[in-house]
Amino acid sequence: MPGTLASEYTAWKKLQQIYDEQHSKLVLKDLFAQDPDRFSKFSKEYVSKDDPATTFLLDYSKNLVTETILNALFELVREAGVEQERDALFSGKHINTSEDRAVLHVALRNFSGWKIPEPGVEDVPKVLDHIRSFTNAVRSGEWKGYTGKPIKSIVNIGIGGSDLGPVMVTEALKPYSKRDLEAYFVSNIDGTHIAETLRVCDPETTLFIIASKTFTTQETITNAESAREWFLGHAKDKAHVAKHFVALSTNTKAVTGFGISADNMFQFWDWVGGRYSLWSAIGLSIALVIGYENFEALLRGAHGMDKHFRETPLESNLPVILAVLGIWYNDFYGAQTHCLLPYDQYLHKFADYFQQGDMESNGKFVTKSGQRVNYQTGPIIWGAAGTNGQHSFYQLLHQGTKLVPADFLAPATTHNPIANSKHHRILLSNFFAQPEALAFGKSEEQVRAELGTSAPEPLVKSKVFEGNRPSNSILFPLLTPATLGALIALYEHKIFVQGAIWGINSYDQMGVELGKVLAKAILAQLEKPSDVKGHDSSTAGLIHYYQKYRKE
Ligand code: F6P
Repeated sequence: MPGTLASEYTAWKKLQQIYDEQHSKLVLKDLFAQDPDRFSKFSKEYVSKDDPATTFLLDYSKNLVTETILNALFELVREAGVEQERDALFSGKHINTSEDRAVLHVALRNFSGWKIPEPGVEDVPKVLDHIRSFTNAVRSGEWKGYTGKPIKSIVNIGIGGSDLGPVMVTEALKPYSKRDLEAYFVSNIDGTHIAETLRVCDPETTLFIIASKTFTTQETITNAESAREWFLGHAKDKAHVAKHFVALSTNTKAVTGFGISADNMFQFWDWVGGRYSLWSAIGLSIALVIGYENFEALLRGAHGMDKHFRETPLESNLPVILAVLGIWYNDFYGAQTHCLLPYDQYLHKFADYFQQGDMESNGKFVTKSGQRVNYQTGPIIWGAAGTNGQHSFYQLLHQGTKLVPADFLAPATTHNPIANSKHHRILLSNFFAQPEALAFGKSEEQVRAELGTSAPEPLVKSKVFEGNRPSNSILFPLLTPATLGALIALYEHKIFVQGAIWGINSYDQMGVELGKVLAKAILAQLEKPSDVKGHDSSTAGLIHYYQKYRKE
């Protein structure tokens, strides 16, 4: 509720009391032993109402919760007014209050024709048509470069939300890609990124996609200018830019000022947040790589999850369930991080993507009404594709001193059934084993029984797994565009629910501004030592050291 800190809710206080009284007794081994139905009680199958093939199982039984705790968590959701906030989101209310904007990524995939009275929403189908026709022209070879050759490489130049979504999805859906169309993604201002990309591109067959909501982002505009310079170095004539540069933006003036014609601009709107923009024109690179039909299937998959989120009672609502479990660990157990562990190489960028999705959304200490929170908000998101993580950081997950709640994700079937799917069975055996090991561990008695009575005491202790480490498991038939869409939307709505409970604005990103402003001031001072003014001694010392050694 506006003006109320989450910690003031009756349900929050109740949860604190439950935690204080019960947490030492919440032992997964016992909870499973006491209730043979625990899995069926605490797991749910998602089946899209639009397409039953889009389905997955969420098993949340390996969490440190009971029915009483979950009920108290759902009470918290109700008391925080999350359902009203959800209705406000779907009806286009300006829930991004600091910027006075609607938050309508759901309108980009609104295949149910929900009425959303916000300017621009009516133009979504037009932009999708533009994406469809352009994508078909490029993929069929009808769209030609300045020497008459078809496009062989696309280079998406963008950063943050204008990069991470397209990168993650094109990687995830590689099996659906046009293999003879290379896709590159340039984001970093470090000249190495664009230089190394241009080395392998042919100006005659490369299409640059300049992706920037604002079209003012320093990294993107600088990289785009360097790409244009490189291109004109070969093509010579500015008229050829039209065949090789397109823009994805809300800022027509800046796009045309850059030299890209308005015809080659794919529009979106200020109600699409950067980190929620892969469904918009920002997804052009995705459509080019996997084809328009697959891009639409991705959107449809997400819409199915939107429906589920909008229409399902809290107790069975999967984004809500993930959100409240996160709150339980983050705010009562004091967990600092949350790990995303896809057992699917194609999802190797999933955690990177949700680092921005979650941390830029919920990494905030002030509520919408301007109060400093007195509880923890967004967790640190991290993770890696299994099984690689097992050979690096899982040691800490199993035996470290920190509580790290984790989500395991895996497809039942692989796109690459190498050696009769032997690889996949090994992969999945790990996907099943890790949550089991985390939850149930290995007791001292078991270790002693294995090592024998003469085993040195320190060795026995070092081989004990305390267990009781919580996780969710998400298992789906195959990583299809629609399933991926549903999974992304699942996490988007989880983030929404958590932000609504904490009372923060999940849709602005003021925290990225200060560094940008300081960098701009410093850029003007880098030439001469005498220009370096207005800094603390550390920053000044670092700049002086740079000036001593810089060569260019
Ligand atoms: O880093 C801040 C940010 O505004 C992100 O939220 C956004 O995704 C990214 O920069 C890129 O912005 P733009 O698409 O306007 O270039």
